[in-house]
Amino acid sequence: MEVYDNEVATQGSAVGTAGNYSEEDHATWHRLCVRQSKLVKPVACREFHVGMPRLNLDFHRLPDRDLMERHIYGLSGWRLADAQNEYLGPTEWFEHIDAKRFPVTDYIRRPHELDFTPLPDLFHEYFGHLAFFTDPAFGDIAQRYGTVYLKARTEEQQLAIARLWWFGIEFGFVREGDELKVIGAGLLSSPGELLHALRDEVPKHPFDINQVAATPSAAYSYHDHYFILDSLAHWREAIDSYARQEGLDV
Ligand SMILES: [Fe+2]
Repeated sequence: MEVYDNEVATQGSAVGTAGNYSEEDHATWHRLCVRQSKLVKPVACREFHVGMPRLNLDFHRLPDRDLMERHIYGLSGWRLADAQNEYLGPTEWFEHIDAKRFPVTDYIRRPHELDFTPLPDLFHEYFGHLAFFTDPAFGDIAQRYGTVYLKARTEEQQLAIARLWWFGIEFGFVREGDELKVIGAGLLSSPGELLHALRDEVPKHPFDINQVAATPSAAYSYHDHYFILDSLAHWREAIDSYARQEGLDV
């Protein structure tokens, strides 16, 4: 499930639900995991590489949400919210985040959609996001976005916070020494947009909160611009700075 700007993408009808997947679904999951692991290995950020072994995904079988929730809860105190067949508005989304629940779907894309699915599916969420949520420190930063969002008084502030989330955790880059690495789950789980975003000619700007807040997200196409964090701590500073700037601090 994705949140972007003031909309949230809905998912299609549930083709597979936990415990009720076809062998074709498991094969799709396996192909996605194997292919994407090779692709992200040289470009994913440190936090992803540390979190992935902790997450302990089975590349051969689709994950069971309840088992994965118990595993992640034991590591970081986060739970998984069931987003199956729900339409999450941004407020509901950030209410989950504030309560340390990460919304996930059970939907897996169809075999002919390996490269691109217009509907967020569990490959994006489990492969792209959940490695990060094995780390309590990362979880604390994510939760801060939910807390500040719920304090927002205007739609403009809500939109800005959603974009700071979007261009960080979903589509962000991060500096590691002289290298540029990928921290955004939307890139880590999307072979097509990852290769697009990595091209030198695609603009990447410093993660300036006001510039990010003014940049529309793209839900159904590749982005024209990306932003670079100096570190994961910088993503925390971004929401804290915005909260201070707008008088939304606790
Ligand atoms: Fe996402």
